[in-house]
Amino acid sequence: MSVKNYIPFLDLASPHRELKEELCAVFESALQTAGFVGGPVVDEFERDFAKFCDSAYCVGVGSGTDALRFALIAAGIQQGEVVITVPNTFIATTEAISQAGAHPVFVDIDERTYNMDPEKLRQYLETECANDDRGRLIHRVTGKNVTAVVPVHLYGQMCDMDPILELAGRYGLTVVEDACQAHGAEYFSSRERRWRKAGSMGQAAAFSFYPGKNLGACGEAGAVTTDDAELAQKIRMLRDHGQAKKYYHDIEGYNGRLDAIQAGILQVKLKHLPEWNKQRRECADRYLELLRLIESVRVPVQPAWSKAIYHLYVVRVEDREQLQRYLAEAEIGTGIHYPVPLHLQRAYSHLGYRQGDFPVAERCAAEIISLPMFPGLRNDEQRRVVERVQSFVSRASAGVLVTAVESVS
Ligand SMILES: Cc1ncc(COP(=O)(O)O)c(C=O)c1O
Repeated sequence: MSVKNYIPFLDLASPHRELKEELCAVFESALQTAGFVGGPVVDEFERDFAKFCDSAYCVGVGSGTDALRFALIAAGIQQGEVVITVPNTFIATTEAISQAGAHPVFVDIDERTYNMDPEKLRQYLETECANDDRGRLIHRVTGKNVTAVVPVHLYGQMCDMDPILELAGRYGLTVVEDACQAHGAEYFSSRERRWRKAGSMGQAAAFSFYPGKNLGACGEAGAVTTDDAELAQKIRMLRDHGQAKKYYHDIEGYNGRLDAIQAGILQVKLKHLPEWNKQRRECADRYLELLRLIESVRVPVQPAWSKAIYHLYVVRVEDREQLQRYLAEAEIGTGIHYPVPLHLQRAYSHLGYRQGDFPVAERCAAEIISLPMFPGLRNDEQRRVVERVQSFVSRASAGVLVTAVESVS
């Protein structure tokens, strides 16, 4: 493979090259002050990221998984309760639910947006749940108390939050947004007649700063945003062994703090995030323009109420594996996010779901492929990707087995 011709799925090296001086200064300052965990750099980043998300508080933690787990625990999710989410997400969403002691259940997704379908949520609540004589919402089959919903803003696009929040309000459910792929995404709330940022709509929201995210650290990091001062304080304790004062432990907590070095790096990058997200949106517009004439490729749908930040650019084709190989032969990187929906993963066989339970998520999982998407992806590179996709589609429709190495001029 020639480095010159290769179009990566994600270019992580370029931004670090461009910001090298500022990033090295973060390391130097941490070495000089020996401030490695918590401290003023973390406080500063938390303040700025809360502002970026239009949230009152941000609490930096060790990862997006920590953020989800701490948010659920701090919101009062109890052992044995039921938390509703979707099957097409990264496993961390459900790991956090299980590790908070709860039982994950799924509702299917909207075929257009790949996100939680509010109508399926409504059906689930109306048909599978009922109030007991104490007014608690009970899952009919298991008899467990249904207490929360985790909408996942997948691929950088927010869920249709108005109906989800309306249902959550009606049924008394806590809402924890999984915003791990959606830093800066926006949603137009018709109820409020204004744009709302990811991370500002639920009781709490979880962000991941895993290196490949739109805002990524140089290691593991995450954060919770919330408008609830008490909840923020509980998360500060949970991340730090349950202590508000050193060595005085009010509860048992975790070691889930944000490193000062990662906070400093995130602070440097946060300044560039609006521009990076803008560039991603421009790339998505360009893909749309180039791909829309290829009928058998389904492009992502952005409803009028959404400003997506395209963490991933996910299209659907019938022969996804073949297309992935065909693009790889032309030195074009891709990804599959995610090949197996969670209800069909071996780790969740104990939940008792079967093939066919969530037909939309299953159909999407079989056909999705993520094309190269990152700030700085050039026009000519996108054209080369789309020409190769076009060539694949033409050959497939002409019945030509697509395996040969070809060069796209
Ligand atoms: C949707 C979603 N939720 C949760 C997570 C977990 O984040 P982390 O890897 O930082 O723990 C991720 C990260 O990949 C994610 O994409």
